[in-house]
Amino acid sequence: MRQVRFHTYGGPEVLRVDDVPSPEPGPGEVLLEVTGVGVTLPVVRQTHGDGAGGGVALPYAPAGEVVGQVLATGPGVTGWEVGARGAGLAFSGAYAERATVKAGMLAPVPDDIADGTALVLVRSGQVALGALAASGFSKGESVLVTAAAGGVGHVAVQLAVALGASRVVAAVSSEAKAGFVRELGADDVVVYGEPGAEWGEPVDVVLDGAGGEVFGPALGALAMFGRLVAFNGVGGPVDANELRMRGIAVIGFAMPHLVAHRREVYDRHQQELWDLARGGRIATQADGPLRWRRPRGPIASSRTGRTWAR
Ligand SMILES: NC(=O)c1ccc[n+]([C@@H]2O[C@H](COP(=O)([O-])OP(=O)(O)OC[C@H]3O[C@@H](n4cnc5c(N)ncnc54)[C@H](OP(=O)(O)O)[C@@H]3O)[C@@H](O)[C@H]2O)c1
Repeated sequence: MRQVRFHTYGGPEVLRVDDVPSPEPGPGEVLLEVTGVGVTLPVVRQTHGDGAGGGVALPYAPAGEVVGQVLATGPGVTGWEVGARGAGLAFSGAYAERATVKAGMLAPVPDDIADGTALVLVRSGQVALGALAASGFSKGESVLVTAAAGGVGHVAVQLAVALGASRVVAAVSSEAKAGFVRELGADDVVVYGEPGAEWGEPVDVVLDGAGGEVFGPALGALAMFGRLVAFNGVGGPVDANELRMRGIAVIGFAMPHLVAHRREVYDRHQQELWDLARGGRIATQADGPLRWRRPRGPIASSRTGRTWAR
């Protein structure tokens, strides 16, 4: 079968389509006939030999989210039948005609959810909703999303709007991305890196998909008692005194922990994401132009009872 691999590190030019034997599902694994694969920043880093992907044995077949139909199951797998449709992370060999996925990483995909939407929602959607939930977000709070035009960021902006944020600020690195995040429903757009860029009014929640140089300023954007969720793979230093002075918190979020230790939350979030997509409240570009619907009516804060007009 055909599988994309790289034999040296580099940009997209190092990716090759190789002919390799079809994989066999090992214990706890499911073999999928792949109908769609997601391309994400961690894969780009992996191909460059950066971050968690550094040091892989070459040639390497990169990891990625796959969607497809079950062809076979390995020993010990329960709950998956041949022909069922699932999506999840293949730890390697994702860009191929067939790929194996740990059964625990695979989510069933309803028939009315298109491949591209499924790929976005089992990964970026789960990270965005998991990060928002980790912040303890309540309806009526304000939310700032950094790297807002990215895979996770663009779902996070739509989720914050759909779940009743009083104000959603989308932060992006260039003016070229500003129009896209406005289209997703952001109330305000900040282009960081531009001279004199300001966050505006402090916010209750920051979902930081950028990290690094953006992390410090993003922490500064928090209102008193605000929470920043760091889900990016870049990180940044925390000064405990800065947290104390404003009663703010920094919370780390990694989706695999939810899969491994809070499976019921992961499953509930997945159902919520399918429902929001069906209702047109989360749109992805994977299956055509955005068809996103702005919620109507005022928002009432579940914490203070205050209301906002939309
Ligand atoms: N915690 C978890 O479970 C989890 C799961 C998946 C991903 N992640 C992390 O979440 C972050 C966002 O992931 P994603 O899949 O949304 O990525 P993505 O679709 O590639 O978007 C990444 C965004 O990050 C910004 N960015 C900053 N430095 C960049 C660089 N060197 N190259 C490209 N873009 C860069 C860009 O926005 P601007 O140009 O506007 O800044 C870009 O839109 C990554 O750090 C990833 O490692 C975490």
